Amino acid sequence: MKIILIGFMGVGKSTVGNNLAEVLHKPFIDLDSMIEEHTGQSIPNFFSKVGEGSFRTIEANLLTKALQMEEVVISTGGGVVETRQCVDILRKSGGLVIWLNGTFSTVTDRLLNTVVDRPLLSGKPLPDFFNLWKRRQNIYADTANFEVITDHKNITEISNEIIQHMDHPTKFDTLRSQIDSFDNATLQQLAARMTVVDQVALIKKNHKIPVLQTARMANMRQRLNKAFVGKLSNELIEEYMTFVTGAAISREEQQI
Ligand code: S3P
Repeated sequence: MKIILIGFMGVGKSTVGNNLAEVLHKPFIDLDSMIEEHTGQSIPNFFSKVGEGSFRTIEANLLTKALQMEEVVISTGGGVVETRQCVDILRKSGGLVIWLNGTFSTVTDRLLNTVVDRPLLSGKPLPDFFNLWKRRQNIYADTANFEVITDHKNITEISNEIIQHMDHPTKFDTLRSQIDSFDNATLQQLAARMTVVDQVALIKKNHKIPVLQTARMANMRQRLNKAFVGKLSNELIEEYMTFVTGAAISREEQQI
């Protein structure tokens, strides 16, 4: 089986591809690295020297070459969907084309923390970069057989999701992929909340302030009920508050 990863720059195609190939015992091809080997130049150098048009032609040729392998994991460059030619090659590849999708804030966050130079990023005003991301979303969706949400997930989680569903991926799996991402985000927020709770506990301890602040709790419940009216039921908010404040209080009490 051929597995081809597409998606915007910074979404993790190369890292996930490498990991997937290792776990599945398949060879791994990074299309950008293949282009660098073929041209003997780094992507930014080659890109600025020959321009996007010639870059895309080489990209299409090398994609065709990479797809000659039967058992392979291929990670592509984010702009592989920019040409009709590459989109057609991908659609006719007989492989599983997986779209690694991430929100604009996830990808920019990752790109800001990476050392790899992206020619289409450097010097671009943020609104233009956002428009590029947005415009490509539809093309990735139309080209892929399966969409995996990468936000708030690590490489292993993303690879595992792919492996779990690669034989019969459905829209249902993508929705669950989204739910997993929300769960991770919620728990990451909860962990961050608890570190602030620890700081509050310390201040309460030093100033002999009671752990339980009943009026503040009632206020918070009221505010949340109002803010989420029509989206979350009062019961759910109540349960959430009981759970989260309960956890915080026992954490604070442990420290006092
Ligand atoms: C490009 C993305 C890059 C690389 C080239 C063009 C793009 O790959 O192919 O700079 O048009 O989005 P990554 O997605 O690996 O950054």
